[in-house]
Amino acid sequence: MSDLFRDSKISLSLADYTRDDCPLIGINARFAELSGYSASECLGRNCRFLQPEGGAGPVRERMRAFLHEEEKDHSRFVVPNVRKDGTPFLNLLYMSKLQRDGRTALILGSQFDISRANANDSEIYDRALHEDLINLKLLTEKTNWSLVTSLEALASSHAIIAQARIDP
Ligand SMILES: Cc1cc2nc3c(=O)[nH]c(=O)nc-3n(C[C@H](O)[C@H](O)[C@H](O)COP(=O)(O)O)c2cc1C
Repeated sequence: MSDLFRDSKISLSLADYTRDDCPLIGINARFAELSGYSASECLGRNCRFLQPEGGAGPVRERMRAFLHEEEKDHSRFVVPNVRKDGTPFLNLLYMSKLQRDGRTALILGSQFDISRANANDSEIYDRALHEDLINLKLLTEKTNWSLVTSLEALASSHAIIAQARIDP
């Protein structure tokens, strides 16, 4: 898993669902680049610290509901976030549940700044995310871990970004 995080071309984060308030237990260099926060500033904290002081709006409730709904294994959200230097950005957040012995144990997150992303950027991101998810699925094979997400059901980032721009 740490090799996958190190080699990934996109921002990745991992949170421990079994611990109180689902703290981050791993981020990669791309996450640090995107957010401006180093690992020592993030680990042990819930990732909501990226949300603006005034709140992230109704999407926060939808993210919370997703994390508690047993039947949902992955989802995507457009969340207003703020970098460490105070710059706001729109984060297209992908979350997927990792199960151990059939129970959600970890949550994988991937962040993509859609503020200035064009169709080409989002295609490159989708391909990289898809590749990481395939590798993660391979990693969990023949173990008591599973990534239950369906790769076919991965919605195109471009479509989500277009929708977010029509309906901010
Ligand atoms: C692995 C993981 C990564 C997350 N990444 C982000 C993020 O980049 N930005 C964000 O605003 N929220 C992120 N979240 C969502 C928040 O941590 C939190 O779940 C959300 O705000 C809803 O819960 P709350 O109402 O308790 O804050 C992430 C959650 C998980 C589990």
